[in-house]
Amino acid sequence: MKKIKNICCIGAGYVGGPTMAVIAQKCPEINVTVVDINEARIAAWNDENVENIPIYEPGLSAIVKEARGRNLFFSTEVDDAIDKADMIFISVNTPTKTYGMGKGMAADLKWIELCARQIARVSTTNKIIVEKSTLPVRTAEALKSILENTGNGVKFQILSNPEFLAEGTAVEDLLAPDRVLIGGDVDTKEGREAMQSLVDVYAHWVPKENILTTNVWSSELSKLTANAFLAQRVSSINAMSELCEKTGADVNEVARAIGMDSRIGSKFLKSSVGFGGSCFQKDILNLVYIAKSYGLNEVADYWEQVIIMNDHQKRRFAANIVSTLYNTVSGKKIAFLGWAFKKDTNDTRESAAIYVADYLLNEQAEVVVYDPKVKSEQIYGDLDYLGSRSPEENRRLLKVVNEPYDACKDSHAIAVLTEWDEFKSYDWKSIYDCMLKPAFVFDGRNLLDVKKLENIGYTVSSIGTPAVSKEEAVKEPALV
Ligand code: UDX
Ligand code: ADP
Repeated sequence: MKKIKNICCIGAGYVGGPTMAVIAQKCPEINVTVVDINEARIAAWNDENVENIPIYEPGLSAIVKEARGRNLFFSTEVDDAIDKADMIFISVNTPTKTYGMGKGMAADLKWIELCARQIARVSTTNKIIVEKSTLPVRTAEALKSILENTGNGVKFQILSNPEFLAEGTAVEDLLAPDRVLIGGDVDTKEGREAMQSLVDVYAHWVPKENILTTNVWSSELSKLTANAFLAQRVSSINAMSELCEKTGADVNEVARAIGMDSRIGSKFLKSSVGFGGSCFQKDILNLVYIAKSYGLNEVADYWEQVIIMNDHQKRRFAANIVSTLYNTVSGKKIAFLGWAFKKDTNDTRESAAIYVADYLLNEQAEVVVYDPKVKSEQIYGDLDYLGSRSPEENRRLLKVVNEPYDACKDSHAIAVLTEWDEFKSYDWKSIYDCMLKPAFVFDGRNLLDVKKLENIGYTVSSIGTPAVSKEEAVKEPALV
């Protein structure tokens, strides 16, 4: 059986970068080369100052510092790294298609296919190919077909090894994963051997009982299923948050009460302005598309509702800001604390903040954003990508500042979009003093101490909790 000496990872993004850094740290005898066509990204990974690596994750820069140049390399020489490797991880982007059949639902496999063709073209020795990116079920089969029909006669084994790390906790998730999942061709000796080679890589630090092996399709589908279940929990608690606001119940109390039921469990019950991130929406849409393509309409509709609820939650949050500010935000300054889709990451893909900002900008608000890790180019890029208005208009209406107090000064309202810890320790009294009155806070993450803010004088609106001062919390349901 093959002992792995050289690993190549195609794609130096949020998955490829941290995953390879940890493999390199834990397997000093394996050379790990991460390649990407994006030269700026590779240059940032190689930046002399390790704090400038392109991805912010707690603990990641220390690992990169330890392994980089020893057995961890970042390069744009894709062909060279492919040919040298015994094992190739594919970690390229698989966004939702924006054109043609399956537009808005299916995963765009353009980049995966390009990778497969490139691997087939340059490989002169047998290789194990590992799908890391989340992919629709049966992609491994498509990969195999491309590799076998366009290659130079070398042998490829395809494995599915979905990544379950969550951003913001990527390093701890990689160091102590709940499980590692490896799908492969369990029916052939070569397939089983390839799986064992990958098991051996992870076994450097993951207990054997936490490494699961399955057939390829179970592995591919498990990743979509895990993300769908997690997103469903968030949409479920968010659905309850709206009911709580109407009935006078408190969603935090409801979450605590149900979370203590060991069958339900306490995690992923935090009501919010809506889930974001590169995976949840994309994977559910993908699942919906697959179900529909098999004619399973009830299955498709069931999962689609998770997305519908999430869109509703983002819109509802924005609409509440407008209605609370006397039905108009035109010309009013609204401070955004946070733009990232969750704390401890600089990733903004599908962040609720983007959609809330878009809604408020349509209402002619003046939005001023502060996020401790997200750069202004990224924020403008996110808005421009939506295409709701011209780039000039986006830059005229929305400003990005480096100081939270600059964002809040002279504002009518503050909206908390990301649960960054630092927001809790601000001097909320000084902020109050420099805002227009009444000073409103819309807490999209239930992060701040409502009582404390109300004592200072703020009018606070948080998700799923009836405001103490809000007399109109409807006690009796309107019976129809
Ligand atoms: C997710 C999966 O957790 C991970 O296993 C998979 O590999 C990739 O997708 P990620 O998107 O990085 O990870 O972050 P996650 O912690 O799952 O959060 C996703 C979104 O849900 C965030 O916007 C977060 O703020 C939101 N969320 C999460 C809630 O609103 N409430 C919760 O209780 C949990
Ligand atoms: P993820 O969150 O899945 O890691 P990212 O978008 O952060 O996704 O990273 C994917 C990376 O893959 C990007 O940096 C992109 O430039 C890179 N990439 C896409 N296609 C190729 C390719 N054919 N060869 C090398 N790198 C690629």
